[in-house]
Amino acid sequence: MASLASESAFDVLAHAQKLERSGRQVAHLEIGEPDFPTPAHVVEAGLRALRDGETRYTPPAGIPELREAIAAACVTRGIAADPDSILVTPGAKTMLFYAILGVVEPGDEVLVPDPAYPMYRSAVMFAGGVPVSYPLRASARFRPDIDKLARRITPLTRAVILNAPQNPTGGGLSPAALERIIELAERHDLTVIADEVYGQISYGDAPAASIGGIAGASARTIIVDSFSKTYAMTGWRLGYGVLPPALVERFTTLAVNGHSCVPMFVQRAGIAALTGPQTSVQSMVAEYRRRRDWLVPQLAAIPGVTCALPAGAFYAFPNVERALEGLGVLAHDVADDLLENFGVAVVPGTAFGSGGEGHLRLSFAASQPTLERAVDGLRRCLETLREHPHVQT
Ligand SMILES: Cc1ncc(COP(=O)(O)O)c(C=O)c1O
Repeated sequence: MASLASESAFDVLAHAQKLERSGRQVAHLEIGEPDFPTPAHVVEAGLRALRDGETRYTPPAGIPELREAIAAACVTRGIAADPDSILVTPGAKTMLFYAILGVVEPGDEVLVPDPAYPMYRSAVMFAGGVPVSYPLRASARFRPDIDKLARRITPLTRAVILNAPQNPTGGGLSPAALERIIELAERHDLTVIADEVYGQISYGDAPAASIGGIAGASARTIIVDSFSKTYAMTGWRLGYGVLPPALVERFTTLAVNGHSCVPMFVQRAGIAALTGPQTSVQSMVAEYRRRRDWLVPQLAAIPGVTCALPAGAFYAFPNVERALEGLGVLAHDVADDLLENFGVAVVPGTAFGSGGEGHLRLSFAASQPTLERAVDGLRRCLETLREHPHVQT
């Protein structure tokens, strides 16, 4: 249990809410959660199911209609999936946890991006495995260097975790990089765990490339996806895995032991999300893009701050190191100061691993006035630090 770490975004949120209870105003940019409501037709489908008395246990892998709708949606994204290869779970996180628990044996090494969503490392260590970081660098727009990743593979390597578009950096993965990863996985007999929860939130011309479209992927890849971000459904807890055929039965048994099943009304809402109009997804992504295009140049205009343009997801990951030069202050001190003295809640980059040193993560799934307060707060915070370095702890 001691190997499980908490998630800083939730810790920062708790601290921010404490400040709010004492009467302070806080601009929230810490939690990665759409600020839009779940589309009305999706809510209605869930309510209808409840009113119709659909309140009982469901099949552990998910109801056939939802698994069919997920498989059909996967196929339109180029992912070779059939309904029998889908396991429906309470959110992507449960599926990620199962994937890691199911694949990693004590002593196995698992390649994990750094910085990254914190639960990957936690879950690998919980399973007795050893997380081995592969770096994501701003200079490469936070795309992994596949040669460097390959050099970290040893006879003990069991799996590689991918996340694109990425939390916290917004980095992507090209089809060519995905192909090379599958080649490596085949050569070294690795399982690929591909977290694609931000797959639809991508600022290219098309959704981000899925590893499921690469020849040979389906035999050794667990694709993890979710309704949370795409359909603004974080609180519904609905996600899924697309599994290699050989693993479906074992993972369904894990689901039986872990959560039994996902509530019927949630699954009905999921069907409505996938099969209904996609206009709300398109307009949410268009709005995130507008905010990204406003926020990133504003951050980069603050003296000493640089910020790569995220290719997807809804996070800006500015580097504030140059602004702190010679002050003896780290980015996480800036995050604390920003919250305490400027009422702006962000997550320090090191919450995502040592590769996040010098950075802050700002979620732009937040309103324009909130983003404006954040930029203004960060500018003033860094100015104050430079003018009065001795005041800081
Ligand atoms: C990269 C990544 N994967 C998975 C999740 C979890 O998503 P869900 O709400 O479906 O559990 C998140 C949530 O922030 C995330 O950022």
